Parts: sequence; structure tokens; C-alpha cells
Amino acid sequence: MTDETHPLLGFSNSRFTLKSNTNKIRKNFLITLSLITIFGLLFTTFHLKHSNPRTDTDPPAHVIPGVVGPTWNPSKNTTIIANHGAVASDSKLCSDLGISILQKGGFAADAAVVTCLCIGATNTMFSSGIGGGGFITTKRFDDPIALSIDAREMAPGLAHRDMYDGVEHLAQKGGLAVAIPGELKGLYTLFTKHGSGNLTWEELVMPVANIVRDGFVVDKLLETALIRAHESGELDPFDWKFASNGNGVSYVKAGDVLKRPALAKTLTEIAKNGSDAIFYDPKGRIANSLSKKAKQHGGILTPEDFGKYQVNVEEALVVNDFTSKNLTVFVANGASSGVSLAAGLKILNKFNDVKMKDDFGSIESQRMIETMKWMGSIRSHLGDIGIYNDNKTAINEHNDLYDHFLSDEYADEVVSKIDDYKTLPSWRDYNPAYEPNDPKGTSSLSIIDNHGNAVSITTTVNLLFGSGVHDPETGIILNDEMDDFSLPTSKNAFNIEPSHFNYIQPYRRPLSSSSQSIVFDATENQVLMAIGAAGGSRITTAVLQGIVRSYYYGLSLLDTIAFPRLHHQLLPNVVYVEGPEVLGFNEALVDRGHVVEMVWPMSTMNAVKVVNGSFYAQSDYWRKLGRASGY
Ligand SMILES: *[C@@H]1O[C@H](CO)[C@@H](O)[C@H](O)[C@H]1NC(C)=O
Ligand SMILES: *[C@@H]1O[C@H](CO)[C@@H](O)[C@H](O)[C@H]1NC(C)=O
Ligand SMILES: *[C@@H]1O[C@H](CO)[C@@H](O)[C@H](O)[C@H]1NC(C)=O
Ligand SMILES: *[C@@H]1O[C@H](CO)[C@@H](O)[C@H](O)[C@H]1NC(C)=O
Ligand SMILES: *[C@@H]1O[C@H](CO)[C@@H](O)[C@H](O)[C@H]1NC(C)=O
Ligand SMILES: *[C@@H]1O[C@H](CO)[C@@H](O)[C@H](O)[C@H]1NC(C)=O
Repeated sequence: MTDETHPLLGFSNSRFTLKSNTNKIRKNFLITLSLITIFGLLFTTFHLKHSNPRTDTDPPAHVIPGVVGPTWNPSKNTTIIANHGAVASDSKLCSDLGISILQKGGFAADAAVVTCLCIGATNTMFSSGIGGGGFITTKRFDDPIALSIDAREMAPGLAHRDMYDGVEHLAQKGGLAVAIPGELKGLYTLFTKHGSGNLTWEELVMPVANIVRDGFVVDKLLETALIRAHESGELDPFDWKFASNGNGVSYVKAGDVLKRPALAKTLTEIAKNGSDAIFYDPKGRIANSLSKKAKQHGGILTPEDFGKYQVNVEEALVVNDFTSKNLTVFVANGASSGVSLAAGLKILNKFNDVKMKDDFGSIESQRMIETMKWMGSIRSHLGDIGIYNDNKTAINEHNDLYDHFLSDEYADEVVSKIDDYKTLPSWRDYNPAYEPNDPKGTSSLSIIDNHGNAVSITTTVNLLFGSGVHDPETGIILNDEMDDFSLPTSKNAFNIEPSHFNYIQPYRRPLSSSSQSIVFDATENQVLMAIGAAGGSRITTAVLQGIVRSYYYGLSLLDTIAFPRLHHQLLPNVVYVEGPEVLGFNEALVDRGHVVEMVWPMSTMNAVKVVNGSFYAQSDYWRKLGRASGY
């Protein structure tokens, strides 16, 4: 493959801020692309928060063979078309496992439990797991309203606003970065609320326990992630023996069989217990072992914190009357960025006119980018109120603010400020209140079954292998979700203060960018799409584009996912455009006053879509080698 023939090398860079104006970097494009795909998701936004905001396209050091990046000409054979149901996740093994549950009479919720546990236990263990947390948007066929289950981690009881003052790096790696894990309680809640009842909890958890007991074949993603973490000195040789051939020096490679006997034992205990109770029992083996391990690495997590953990179950946010087809979009609530996505959809819905016809059209893209900038502003106002908060004034203020952003008046006001030919001169014109935090890598999965149930989950341990702390007793990798809080002392490039809405408080949840959604046909009373994305601050804008592509422009699911995406988060004040470049497109944005930067892929999106009674499932093969499954 040469520079000339590869479509990804076709971009021009002369008048943009792209740092590829040397031949050296141009030639490095292919080799660096794949790595950014994976580690971009996990690491790059870190730079935005702590140093020069423009370093997020700097190439990382390794290569994942097979990742080709977005394309305008995707191969159709990665789309699964099925008659009964489908699962789109980051892993073929885990998508298949989800399908096996649907075939046994399980609902989408049952399949989601298994797929999610599998994702966190096998090759993508570096981005999620039961030591982490997530968000679930779930719609049951017989309930007109979808639910949002916020299973985001909560800050430990001993946490406080200034705990990282002068030691900010400890929010990212080591025991002090660990928040109380929420994933298992989220999955158990999903199982009890929306499961079919045809399968027991044990029947859902044991298949994953068996896989990690017997071993699974390591892939290039995991191999590369382990090398990266090992070289950064993040893996304690004793604690990480399971992945290092017992020697703590060389780590397992693609093709090796990896067993996780400690995790198998823990999952078996959870399966036999019949619920999540054994995990959250402050007197139990799991909570005690995890707290002890976190403490050994400088942490403050206690067994009692596990007893205090609660998920937040609410109605999903609703966008009604979307497009001329009268669709309803259900969006994640809680400490996610669902409010920002829902507001974005409402704003774009006001532009439902003849000009909205071409995905990368200049007017359509201008409206899309301006909407994204307002979404960035909205996001800077969001934060978790805290499930144990009983300050009525604060709760009312919080609810009023969220209602304001979701109101028609707000959407109208924003629309009146959007000019099809000019962006506003300064980012201050968009009224960001605070500097937004910068969440990191994740995994997403989407499922629709033939009963009309749909589930979309975003799950994460935050940075690569979370806090880097693996507990060899339980086999669990602990998250570093504390890094998603705003720190009063964090340096910022924009001279605005960090968000007090997102400061650390005991049992508060850090704000996330998650915004997984379900699209519903209100006229036909039918689920149309379950969609979610991974990739930090890019999640919200990726899902926005996914929904708009599918339902404004009528793109196939394949094109919806494979085509290059745009991203703008207001700060930095830059439009990020994935290659391959569309001729003249960047110039049209520059003419409107935007700064444009061509970037490597930084989000991955997985979705299932129902078309003419068939289930189309598409994982983001081009950015993370994901594979869907169906039957
Ligand atoms: C899909 O098609 C492409 C090109 O025709 C081929 O290279 C690739 O191996 C196929 N992949 C699968 C999974 O069939
Ligand atoms: C599973 O349970 C649902 C009700 O929860 C029922 O409608 C369905 O027929 C069951 N499927 C099988 C295969 O038992
Ligand atoms: C599950 O675990 C909880 C908490 O440790 C315990 O109280 C309960 O008895 C267990 N249930 C079973 C069926 O083992
Ligand atoms: C309750 O919240 C309000 C508004 O945020 C704040 O001004 C007040 O100090 C809080 N009260 C207490 C007792 O913390
Ligand atoms: C949209 O669907 C809702 C719910 O079925 C219905 O009440 C409403 O009348 C529909 N609106 C239009 C414009 O069809
Ligand atoms: C669905 O059916 C419509 C009408 O029959 C047709 O135009 C369209 O191409 C079909 N879509 C797919 C993806 O099969």
C-alpha cells in the first residue's frame, strides 16, 4: 500500500492546523492510525486537560495490525443481517455469547448482562469490567418509557474536594484513583427490571466465568494494551502475574491462551449467590479484598463504601417528534451527558427543512458543528447532584437547569444564534460556565431482540486498565474514575474555572460523556435503533451524528458507522475531522470561521437497527475491529 493509493492519505494539509506538514508524519499516518484508535480513546484527551490542548493527535508508539480507520467505501461483509435479534459489541466472542442467550429465550436485557460481563473479562478488559461502571438505556417492549440505569462509580466516603491538591496524577493511576465500582449492580438491576425471567442470574454469569476459567485467545488489542501499560511501568509485577506468564516481565501475546482463574472464582461466587449482594457485602470477601488492594496502592476505598453503593434508576430523557417521521429518542440520564445529546437533537430537529439532505454538505455540517459547540457549553454546566444529597435548594436548582437545557425555548434561542455561513467569533459567545472535564476510554454495546426490547450500554474503567491496580485475589481490575471529576487545582488552558458541579464529594458520581440511546417509532410502536459509542468527550457527538445520519439522511447502518465523523467540543475551539477528506469540505468550514484539524479516529460506535423487519447489526470494525452477531 502506498501513500498515493491509500484513501486515508488523500487529505491535504496546507491551510489547516494539521501537524502533518512534513513527509515524515504523512508517512507515519498508517502506522499511527491504528494506535490512536485504541489509545486515542484512552489517553489522548488527557493531554487536553493537563497540557497543550493541541497535542491530542500526537502519534502514540505502537501499532495494531488490521485497523484501517474510517472509510467512504466500507466493505458490506461486516454488517450482520438477522431475523430474530442482534448484538453489536467490540468483540465477536462477546456478541456471539449475547446471541446464545437470546436463542435460549432471553431478552435483550439478559443478553446485555452476558455480553457486558464478557467484554470486561476478555480481550477488552483494558477498557471495562466489574471493577468499573457504566450507563444503561433500556426499553422493554411493554413499557412506553425507556429506563436509564446510572451505574457510574461513586466517590468513596473518605473522598473530598481537595484530595488531589498537588498530587493530581494520583487521580489517574494507583489506589487513590479508585471509585466504588458500579457495573455489577447496574447489570443486576437491568436483569431484574427488564430480563425475561427465562434465565437465572447464574445462567447469565456462569458462561463468562467458564470462559475466563478455561482461557480465551489473546488478540492484538490486548497484546498492545499490555505492552503499553507495562512500558509505562503501570503494572505491578506481582499483582499482574496472571497476564505475564507468571514472570512479571513479558506479557501474553496475540494467539496465546489467557486464563483468569481468580476472576473465574469471583464470577462463580457471584453466579451462585444469585444476585449482586455478595459483591457489595461490606463483610464479604470481594469488598474486603478490593479495599485492601486499593489501600496497599495508596487508596481510601473501604468495605463500607461497597455497602453504600446505589445505582440511580430514572426514566430516560425523551426527545419527541424527531424528524418528520415522528420518532422518539430515549437518551441516558443520570451523570451521563444525555442532557447535552438530547438538547443537540432538539436543536437539529428545528432545522428539519429541505436543506438537511446531505451528510457532509457544508450547510448541514455547519449546523451540526454549531450544535456541537452548544452541546459543549451545556456539558460544562452538568454534574451529579449525589444520590444521598438532601439539600432541597440544590436539588431544585439542578433540576431547573437540566429542564432549561431540554426546553423548547432553549432550543429556539440556540437556533436563532446559528448562522449557516458564520461561526460565532469567540468560544465565550457560547456561554460555557466552566471548563468541562475530560472523560476517557470506554466500550459500548447495543442489542435488540425480536420481542421489541432494546438495550444500549456504555461501560468503562476509564484509562487503559483503569487505575492499573489488579487484585490477584478476586481477579478484578480497579477503575480510575476519580479522574473524571473536576479538580479545583487542575491547570486549564482557557482561564475559566473548573466546574464546581463536578467537584469531588463523598458518594457523588463523576460526570461522564456517555449518551447511549434508543430510537423508537412512536407511530408504529416499534424500536428502531439501539446505539452507543466509546471515546471520551467524542461519545456525545458520535451518537448525535449516528442518529442524524440514519434518520435525517437515510444512510444505511454500515455507512452511518464507517463514514468519517466530525467532532467539536467548544474547548478547544477546533473542528476535528476524520479522514479521508472530502474535497472542498474543510475549506467550506474555514470560510465559516472555523479552525479545522484532521484527526485519527477517536470514537467507536456500535449499533443495531431494525429495517423492514430485519435486524442490522454493525460494530465499528474500522476503528476498533469490533464484530457484531445475529441469528
Ligand atoms: C470482507 O471483504 C473484504 C474485501 O472483499 C475481505 O478482504 C475481508 O476478508 C472480508 N471479511 C470477512 C470477515 O469476510
Ligand atoms: C421467555 O419469557 C417471556 C416472558 O418473560 C415469554 O414471552 C417467552 O415466550 C419466553 N421464551 C421462551 C423461549 O421460553
Ligand atoms: C448472597 O450474598 C449475600 C451477601 O453476602 C448473603 O447475605 C446471601 O445469603 C447470599 N445468598 C446466597 C443464595 O448465597
Ligand atoms: C444547599 O444548596 C444551596 C444551593 O446550592 C447552597 O447555597 C446552600 O449553602 C446549601 N445548603 C447547605 C446546608 O449545604
Ligand atoms: C406521534 O406519535 C405520537 C404517539 O403515538 C402521537 O400521539 C402523535 O399524534 C404523533 N404525531 C404525529 C405528527 O404523527
Ligand atoms: C425497506 O423497504 C423499502 C420499501 O419497500 C425499500 O425501499 C428499502 O430499500 C428497504 N430497505 C432495506 C434496507 O432493505
